[in-house]
Amino acid sequence: MILEPRSTSRANNAATLIEPRPGAVSGIALAPVGTGSMAQADPYADTRIKAEVRELSFFYGGSVQAVKDVNLKVPENAVTALIGPSGCGKTTLLRCFNRMHDLYPGNRYQGSIILNPHDGRGVDIVDRATSALEMRMRISMVFQKPNPFPKSIFENVAYGLRLRGLRNGQELRDRVEYALRGAAIWDEVKDRLQKPGYALSGGQQQRLCIARALAVDPEIILFDEPTSALDPIATGRIEELVHELKSRVTILIVTHNMQQAARVSDFTAFMYLAELVEVDKTDRIFQNPANTLTEQYISGRFG
Ligand SMILES: Nc1ncnc2c1ncn2[C@@H]1O[C@H](COP(=O)(O)OP(=O)(O)O)[C@@H](O)[C@H]1O
Ligand SMILES: [Mg+2]
Repeated sequence: MILEPRSTSRANNAATLIEPRPGAVSGIALAPVGTGSMAQADPYADTRIKAEVRELSFFYGGSVQAVKDVNLKVPENAVTALIGPSGCGKTTLLRCFNRMHDLYPGNRYQGSIILNPHDGRGVDIVDRATSALEMRMRISMVFQKPNPFPKSIFENVAYGLRLRGLRNGQELRDRVEYALRGAAIWDEVKDRLQKPGYALSGGQQQRLCIARALAVDPEIILFDEPTSALDPIATGRIEELVHELKSRVTILIVTHNMQQAARVSDFTAFMYLAELVEVDKTDRIFQNPANTLTEQYISGRFG
């Protein structure tokens, strides 16, 4: 089995021969074979992989295929951006990571997403035998539109901690504060923690949602176009925050704003018509992509 990045029928094959094969010692890139001067270094050479998508397909209602044979490595403590034109499957792929699609009948996954593939005890996120609830605890999500619960600022963040059995008390208060600080909103809300979350501005609400996601100490946070409903200043704060958070957590972010991908991400994956066309370090995707389709997309010729 070929791992990734795998070229699709549209892809240029030159950049696809250099991935370590399954079973290769991690961190040691195999010498490129037969690719001459086109060969590129393994973009993941110095990184640990937090999650590895293998031959993943996804079908809505059993028939509409919104993700096709995707292979993708998500490096630990880094930001990976998913870009591509509207309807290409970015949200669908993102939602596979915390089994959101299970909430609707008839949806079907094929292939696997291995969480922590490096330690030999990796768990397949999309395997039926894996608890979807546990995956949602370990992998948090931040949505396009801020969606605070109709509760106080404090309770929005405490919610997941209470679900995990933490009762009222100093530990709860400490962890709420820690999450609000982590989401760069503590100073703005510390004097009104009992006010409703929806009384905040849009940008503050989104940072509150990030605090809620952070509070449970997740391994990965999934962001689906988290700034599309925000003004430029609020957007800038979220982007800064995403950049800071990667030292604590692995981040996967969908954006249709290419400048945003260029600003916040370390790795960028370009999707088109349900397939993953190309993935590489972000500067390389934007300066010298291997695939013609990627080049056309990032230069604004379609999408
Ligand atoms: N709940 C659904 N049922 C059926 N098809 C869907 C559903 N959600 C999305 N799709 C289809 O799946 C494809 C990918 O959608 P999506 O993942 O939302 O794309 P993106 O996030 O890249 O805009 C589209 O063709 C879309 O119409
Ligand atoms: Mg989407």
